[in-house]
Amino acid sequence: MKRVVLKQAIDHKPRADDFDLIETDTPPCPEGGVLARTVYLSLDPYVGSRLRGRHMGEAPPEPMVGAIPGAVVAQVIESQADGLTAGDWIQSMEGGWEETCAIAGEHCRKIDANVAPLSAHAGVLGMPGLTAWAGITQLAKAGEGDIVLVDAAAGPVGGTVGQIARIKGASHVVGIAGGPEKCALVENTYGFDACIDYKAHGWQDALGQALPDGLTVFFENVSADMAMLALTHAQIYARGVLCGLVDAYHTESQSQHPLNAGLIIGKRAQLSGLVVYDFYDRWSEYVAEAAPWIAAGKLNFAEDRAEGLENAPTLFERLMDGQNIGKAVVAVAAEEA
Ligand SMILES: NC(=O)c1ccc[n+]([C@@H]2O[C@H](COP(=O)([O-])OP(=O)(O)OC[C@H]3O[C@@H](n4cnc5c(N)ncnc54)[C@H](OP(=O)(O)O)[C@@H]3O)[C@@H](O)[C@H]2O)c1
Repeated sequence: MKRVVLKQAIDHKPRADDFDLIETDTPPCPEGGVLARTVYLSLDPYVGSRLRGRHMGEAPPEPMVGAIPGAVVAQVIESQADGLTAGDWIQSMEGGWEETCAIAGEHCRKIDANVAPLSAHAGVLGMPGLTAWAGITQLAKAGEGDIVLVDAAAGPVGGTVGQIARIKGASHVVGIAGGPEKCALVENTYGFDACIDYKAHGWQDALGQALPDGLTVFFENVSADMAMLALTHAQIYARGVLCGLVDAYHTESQSQHPLNAGLIIGKRAQLSGLVVYDFYDRWSEYVAEAAPWIAAGKLNFAEDRAEGLENAPTLFERLMDGQNIGKAVVAVAAEEA
């Protein structure tokens, strides 16, 4: 079977030519686990940090041996896991960039292939969607009348944040994204009231005009600077979710991200750090709530898709450079076996 590996250990932002496609033996089905064929592979920003040993203390894969780690939507080929049989569909955060994954039973979440398009389980119903839901409903507790700002708004986290906020009753939802194509997606497909292109001249004034009454909730995906900018537009008692600092994932030395404490005090703001791991045990609850939103056309998603495992490195480089438009997902195999 085919597997994507690192050619050698890296300490830089991953590029497509850091990876190699190798042929290796299909692993046996692990005791208590499953062997599953990878159908969709999710590419996520944290993997770039993990490959250079910068993510939550998790080790990078061994060069030329270990598969690049990644979340997968896969179909069980063989099972020794309770509650799973051949043919079942699973989502797992413990898959990899390989055609066949051997996964421990406790890391498999059985999914219903009929509630939404299968690839949705890599994005809007997968880890990014759960992150959005956790942050906007459980931490920020967004509801009636909230005015919400989110950056990286064209991506699966940001785009889902704004749409769920709206579903929960937010009166005004504004996004920030890089470039006109992303902003069009945010406004036309995700239905935000406005999306500000931070690469355009005068964007900070445009942001102020898009938030005439300020904001009550902000959701930070990009940087401490952006979080502080959001705070300048905040009403008092605003809530902020600190979800990601993607702008600093590949800087030379990891910055200390100074926050303006006086501004936080003056705004009486509540800031919450978010780690999605804390919400994995609520995944089924999220999918049960969100799948009907997708079916009803209230929760939309977009994909930046590559076909074939061999094209994962190129799409990953696009993601690392922030050029992805929508959820970065690789179609590794046909849904029909
Ligand atoms: N805390 C958690 O548990 C958790 C879980 C999942 C994800 N996250 C975080 O949530 C954020 C969004 O994740 P996502 O999967 O939805 O990603 P994404 O939005 O698909 O991709 C990241 C986006 O960040 C923006 N960006 C801004 N500065 C960048 C830079 N210097 N390099 C690369 N990209 C840059 C780009 O969009 P623009 O061009 O529009 O700026 C890029 O497309 C990330 O920070 C991620 O790490 C956190």
